[in-house]
Amino acid sequence: MTVLIKGGTVVNADRSFRADVLCDDGVITAIGENLTAPSGAQTIDAGGQYVMPGGIDPHTHMQLPFMGTVASEDFESGTSAGLAGGTTTIIDFVIPAPQQNIMEAYRQWREWAEKSVSDYTFHVAITWWDDSVYEDMGTLVRDHGVNSFKHFMAYKNAIMCDDETLINSFTRARELGAIATVHAENGDLVFRLQKEVFEKGITGPEGHPLSRPPEVEGEAANRAIRIAEVLNVPLYVVHNSCKQSLQAITRARNEGQRVYGEVLAGHLLVDDSVYNDKDFEVAAAHVMSPPFRDKSHQEALWHGLQSGNLQTTATDHCCFCADQKAAGKDDFRLIPNGTGGVENRMEVLWHHGVSTGRLTMNEFVKVTSTNAAQIFNIYPRKGSISVGADADIVVWDPEASKTISAKTHMQKVDYNIFEGMTVTGCASHTLSQAKVVYANGNLTVERGAGRYVERPAFASYYDAVQKRAQNAQPIAIDRS
Ligand code: URP
Ligand code: ZN
Ligand code: ZN
Repeated sequence: MTVLIKGGTVVNADRSFRADVLCDDGVITAIGENLTAPSGAQTIDAGGQYVMPGGIDPHTHMQLPFMGTVASEDFESGTSAGLAGGTTTIIDFVIPAPQQNIMEAYRQWREWAEKSVSDYTFHVAITWWDDSVYEDMGTLVRDHGVNSFKHFMAYKNAIMCDDETLINSFTRARELGAIATVHAENGDLVFRLQKEVFEKGITGPEGHPLSRPPEVEGEAANRAIRIAEVLNVPLYVVHNSCKQSLQAITRARNEGQRVYGEVLAGHLLVDDSVYNDKDFEVAAAHVMSPPFRDKSHQEALWHGLQSGNLQTTATDHCCFCADQKAAGKDDFRLIPNGTGGVENRMEVLWHHGVSTGRLTMNEFVKVTSTNAAQIFNIYPRKGSISVGADADIVVWDPEASKTISAKTHMQKVDYNIFEGMTVTGCASHTLSQAKVVYANGNLTVERGAGRYVERPAFASYYDAVQKRAQNAQPIAIDRS
């Protein structure tokens, strides 16, 4: 398929310029002024609109088996919803059950994801440790294009990774030139606080944030960062929700450590008052970890994005419907943790980021696409409008307005955490692999058209950490 996007302004992470963009055979083939459409090409009139790299959501969980149920959004519906909002690539997670063979889990997720309609790739979680895990991490990096390993420091008695496993896995990641990532919450503390809160008679969703205060997140973020510092491995901290973890990241970055931070659109825009809603379904729909925080944390997170101490925005898209959330009707500890957002991330960030002047358009591209592509080593194939890059493109209408609602969204979940929010600035067209898959409200997707994207190990990170380790050697003193 050949598509010419005509008359728009290309917005990349580094600059913006007026140009037409020609796409063919999956990639961008020409960028320039006054390009003519080859015969048979489809033309999109992008006058008054922005032509940007398709979004990369670096944190989703499609059809995740979790807390006794399975996330309602599958790879087909979830990637479709992503495309409707301008997100053209997701990075999902393979999460082996404790003691489950890692390669078996990886193959299982690959099979589930075959029906994806947009491109996708996987972080792999390390939930336990033995020699086979050590070997399998090597196989995943060398033969399967996995360059990031996830560690859940929470969810005790389930997928929680203890410090010993964290240390073993971080060490192995460094050997392989992979990046370590963490869900930073002290799972032992959460377990204890949950018990205390529940025993006080607080059994509803309002108990959820009480059992996971920001200090619990800050402690774990700092611990992971310091372990990564000692082991000299690059670290990516997912879903930072509070000042405490942001401070830990900022301090480490100021000390020259290679640490990255992600923030969720939800944590930037939704506050913890939602847990006091009298309607269990509404409060439970917001139960996710880390929980939504009070407004002072939101402002700090925006500052983190503005300063560059947080580099990526994600959704942690992990949907459970009301009947699934009802499992925790009498005990908040049993409410499946997770909320959606893959369809809305770009528009809420544009509205509350670019339209308010917090972010420039170029910074918007950085935090919704380019930085994730660079951190996870798929740049410039993804995350840039450049000749040779994948033609994964969003045409953005800065004047279009809509009100977000579960009644009209495409996500396969019965609640939307941005319900009722009116946003100005939305995707008018989305291209995936040079095909127009979304146009003005209509999806034209093909089940299975999405490809698994391999992400090579980081020669540059690896070199940097080796050099840093060498430089850290104590200077020999000649005492003769
Ligand atoms: O509550 C959440 N975030 N559910 C998905 C799993 C995770 O912790 O990322
Ligand atoms: Zn998490
Ligand atoms: Zn997650």
